[in-house]
Amino acid sequence: MAVSIALFDSKPYDKDFFDLANASGEFDIRYYPVRLGPDTLSLARGAQVVCAFVNDDLSAPVLEGLSALGVGLVALRCAGFNNVDLQSAYGKMHVVRVPAYSPHAVAEHAVSLLLALNRKAHKAFNRTREGNFTLNGLLGFDLHGKKAGIVGTGRIGRITAEILRGFGMEVLVSDPFPDTAWAEKFGLRYAELDELYSQTRVISLHCPLSPESRHMVNAQSIAKMKDGVILINTGRGALVDSRALIEGLKSGKIGGAGLDVYEEEDKYFFEDFSHSGIADDVLARLLTFPNVLVTAHQAFFTQEAMEAIAKTTLENIGLFLSGAQVPNEICYQCSSGDCARKSGGKCF
Ligand code: NAI
Repeated sequence: MAVSIALFDSKPYDKDFFDLANASGEFDIRYYPVRLGPDTLSLARGAQVVCAFVNDDLSAPVLEGLSALGVGLVALRCAGFNNVDLQSAYGKMHVVRVPAYSPHAVAEHAVSLLLALNRKAHKAFNRTREGNFTLNGLLGFDLHGKKAGIVGTGRIGRITAEILRGFGMEVLVSDPFPDTAWAEKFGLRYAELDELYSQTRVISLHCPLSPESRHMVNAQSIAKMKDGVILINTGRGALVDSRALIEGLKSGKIGGAGLDVYEEEDKYFFEDFSHSGIADDVLARLLTFPNVLVTAHQAFFTQEAMEAIAKTTLENIGLFLSGAQVPNEICYQCSSGDCARKSGGKCF
């Protein structure tokens, strides 16, 4: 009998790509449009695997509920895992993810937000459609020769840095684990965050959300930035204190913000609120600024990335069910040095 997977927060495009990756019918995938949470977890009854996305609730009570239903594996179809309580999962539930699908997709989206904001493409689009062909208010600046700052030089941050180097920008980068050989190869320089904040016209965030990085962009760090800085965030919403960002936009300190993520996005992103309106005053205020461009967590959303996500997720599940070690497994102990994987074993 085919292995049953309960796939939550399913959209039509998820079904398209997962059905394609599952053409052999190896898995019985049950698609649920609702998000995983305390009220919906019972839908996983009878499934061996739960497939979840960025805004599904994988807190301790939900994991306990899934475990009680006999679910042994949470297969994340995303890279980030800040929505999973790994400590609660440890010992009762395995967790796998898709660490990389298309870092190019996210990096290219970050750059497209920057280009659109700087050259006001979003305003020009509306203007010319109304027959207004004036240029007032559309002035941008050459990126060539300006300084950009990249926070986090993992897979996505590196590609973003390399693209911006290609524009002829001078790029400062920051990461607790610098790769100086890579930086030298591309003519980049590692710098402390304070220097990066104070020197660059464009700042793009590409680090994971953690207790340390939460609200790294706040009133204090914004005060250190150059006047008129363009801030791009395709990382995670809570890297930025949205209220401080609003103050920065109101004062003109922040010249533009390109946001693919928002700290309270789980209530809104991927859904249509065009008829009911937005109750979140912070998000609503952000959307009023002409120099803020919000996209709803779509940086990953390319053909290549969706194919890779579906393929890797099903490979992860297949490997797990075969009893083999899954290279893409993550656990509470993975980063602490105590995980059995360090010596070639499994997480637990
Ligand atoms: P990665 O794991 O390859 O790289 C992350 C880098 O950030 C690492 O080099 C790490 O040392 C560094 N880092 C950690 N804490 C830091 C800090 N406080 N300051 C500076 N650097 C720090 O991750 P990858 O694949 O590059 O993804 C980065 C983030 O992008 C993910 O954690 C995820 O939150 C986000 N993402 C967003 C997507 C979207 O559609 N908007 C899609 C995929 C990922």
